[in-house]
Amino acid sequence: MKSIAILGSTGSIGTQAIDVVSRLDSVSVAALTAHSNGELLARQVRATGARRAALSDGEAASRHASAFKDMGVRLFAGPEGVLEVIRGGGFDQVLNSIVGFAGLAPTLEILECGMGLALANKESLVAGGKLVMETARRNGVEMIPVDSEHSAIFQCLTGEERAGLARIILTASGGPFREAPRDLSSVTAQDALAHPTWSMGPKVTIDSATLMNKGLEVLEAHHLFSVELDEVDVIIHPQSIIHSMVEMVDGSVLAHLGVPDMRIPIQYALTYPARARCPARFLSLAEVGTLTFDEVDAKRFPCLGLAYEAGRMGKTYAAAMNAANEEAVTAFLAGRMGFTGIAEVVEEVLETHEPLPASGLEEITEAESNARARARESIGRLEA
Ligand SMILES: NC(=O)c1ccc[n+]([C@@H]2O[C@H](COP(=O)([O-])OP(=O)(O)OC[C@H]3O[C@@H](n4cnc5c(N)ncnc54)[C@H](OP(=O)(O)O)[C@@H]3O)[C@@H](O)[C@H]2O)c1
Repeated sequence: MKSIAILGSTGSIGTQAIDVVSRLDSVSVAALTAHSNGELLARQVRATGARRAALSDGEAASRHASAFKDMGVRLFAGPEGVLEVIRGGGFDQVLNSIVGFAGLAPTLEILECGMGLALANKESLVAGGKLVMETARRNGVEMIPVDSEHSAIFQCLTGEERAGLARIILTASGGPFREAPRDLSSVTAQDALAHPTWSMGPKVTIDSATLMNKGLEVLEAHHLFSVELDEVDVIIHPQSIIHSMVEMVDGSVLAHLGVPDMRIPIQYALTYPARARCPARFLSLAEVGTLTFDEVDAKRFPCLGLAYEAGRMGKTYAAAMNAANEEAVTAFLAGRMGFTGIAEVVEEVLETHEPLPASGLEEITEAESNARARARESIGRLEA
């Protein structure tokens, strides 16, 4: 029996992971963490039998402490509480499904502890890619990606020699604004949250609408699979049936297909290298009928180009871009700024960023918090 911890268990990935684990005889849950949703976390602890839990929002932890005490479960508090849960061990693998930069410190802690890591938190690799990969190598940890595209690539590359890989082709649904409206300046948060093929948390859904999500995934693939940025391409594939492809040096293209259901890659990361029956539907290509592909419209979706640019500039540029994007998405969701402002904020922060070498967590955190401050100024100007 494999024992796991789920960080970010109350989110979209976290709740689906609990659903997946509840149907598997081979996996049990030892620890769960969330940010502030203590009510759901307590229900999840009761349902899974987890023995340890954390709420990274310290105030929420104080408010909800009694519910956990009654269950005889230790509740840790604050961002440090999440790290304490990891350090306490008692599990074989951790699923990191925290959203945003807050996932980086836990990712590094999991790797330093030499635990297995199923990684959904793409921002870890975007902001701290080199550091994360070095820490994984030093501790002999193989990271299993949860993002559907990276899970697809990981599976396509299983058994392949690295020298045989020529190019990674990430597929993108194109989000809700792929075709219309042409002018994106007046779309609302409600419009942007209506994703055509995937049901996800709010931040990643907005990232999908701006195509920043694909930019983050380009950087994620660059680090995870040790490929140059110009060896990662993006193609629009609205049906989200091909989850990504790899092109080999002999011209063979390997693709991974399936219905768009995150429970498949989540389960694969938890049962790897074994496979198990999954509650997701089987794919019927006859029902899908047609698979289509298109180029990205770089003018309407500038965030993808900005992500490549940040990756090429190296140092802490990608961390700064990620910070600016997180701030801008929060402002957009709160109705304080228009949709096209997201790319404007990211661009402005990248232009003025004073980079650091990105060799350690402290440096990355410093650069990212400077970038956040710059982003807030930029958002303030757009609000005015
Ligand atoms: N959803 C998808 O289908 C999908 C697909 C591919 C990749 N991903 C990636 O998976 C990650 C999670 O996405 P999601 O859609 O599941 O997000 P989500 O629904 O917003 O859930 C985020 C989780 O992280 C917790 N959290 C929020 N802020 C935190 C903080 N500062 N410190 C610690 N924990 C915090 C939340 O707790 P509370 O509930 O208490 O706020 C929640 O449990 C993201 O990196 C996303 O890009 C998601």
